[in-house]
Amino acid sequence: MAGKKITVVGAGNVGETTSHLAALEQLGDIVLIDIVEGLAEGKALDLAQAGPISGYDINIIGTTDWEKAAGSDIVIITSGIPRKPGMSRDDLLAKNTSIVKSVTEQIVRYCPDSFIIVVCNPLDAMVYVTSKVSGFDKNKIMGMAGELDCARYKHFIASELNISSKDIDAVLMGGHGDDMVPLPRLTTVEGKPLTELLSKKKIEAIVERTRKGGIEVVNLLGYSAYYAPAAGAVKMAKAILGDNKSKVCCCAYCDKEYSAGGYFVGVPAILGKGGVEKIIELELNGIEQAAFEKSLLHVKDLSAKVDKLL
Ligand code: NAI
Ligand code: 2OP
Repeated sequence: MAGKKITVVGAGNVGETTSHLAALEQLGDIVLIDIVEGLAEGKALDLAQAGPISGYDINIIGTTDWEKAAGSDIVIITSGIPRKPGMSRDDLLAKNTSIVKSVTEQIVRYCPDSFIIVVCNPLDAMVYVTSKVSGFDKNKIMGMAGELDCARYKHFIASELNISSKDIDAVLMGGHGDDMVPLPRLTTVEGKPLTELLSKKKIEAIVERTRKGGIEVVNLLGYSAYYAPAAGAVKMAKAILGDNKSKVCCCAYCDKEYSAGGYFVGVPAILGKGGVEKIIELELNGIEQAAFEKSLLHVKDLSAKVDKLL
């Protein structure tokens, strides 16, 4: 999009793939930042050289210098250690709090008007770190995870039913952890309720596989997923830059909504030029609300740990 500038922090797996997808979408000029000398520069050069083949025509630079990020419209934070087999996302809390804090301080200095999309784990807690350190309006800060988890959920349903995932309307809430809350009762396939198309046992298996979707990839690769996470981050950036008013599952600030009481947690929301413009309030039944509250409790616990670290 003409005149737009996106900074991607972290030139690792998620950061480089996010930059590539953003370039293919021509979302704007891209600044890729990493602390490792040469890494972002090399990846940005390679990405720029793919432009004449893939047909994108934007500026892409890699750097360790935050001054180059000045005036960015959106900053996507992917700089954080990922988990390895045997680790939970929560094991990353202390180290990634310190990284995300230092990155957010640079954003405040060089990109004070930007929207921030956080990808680092543990996701909901890292969004909280960004909010607390930046003091930015809460609608300008959000996290990418729900879109990824919902995509996994849709993929598993589509595979089970042998249909296109495009025919599925699904929603997923809660924190980005094993207690996330896919919502089968509110999931439809070509307008028909999922609960009429699959047995309870099959749906439970899909819900469980979705909850463990991240570790399934970690166990196969030895490191964490990046194609689908990057696609989620770019979808969110596109919705904001294009003022698309898209419905996206993302980590957003909720106070009265779902009785969350002032926490960043996964919910369906509308993204547009105002960032998180609206939280969509679904009518949850008692079981669904209880599952959301259980997941929220975990988010609250991690946020309290962040308070001790900051
Ligand atoms: P990676 O290890 O491939 O890349 C991380 C990069 O960040 C490295 O290149 C590192 O040098 C850089 N970095 C570290 N500190 C930095 C700093 N202060 N400033 C700039 N760059 C810095 O890791 P990967 O796979 O890209 O994952 C990144 C993060 O995203 C992890 O915390 C991971 O758990 C999380 N993640 C979250 C997902 C989600 O759904 N929210 C999905 C996938 C990954
Ligand atoms: C995932 O779910 C690592 O949180 C990341 O793939």
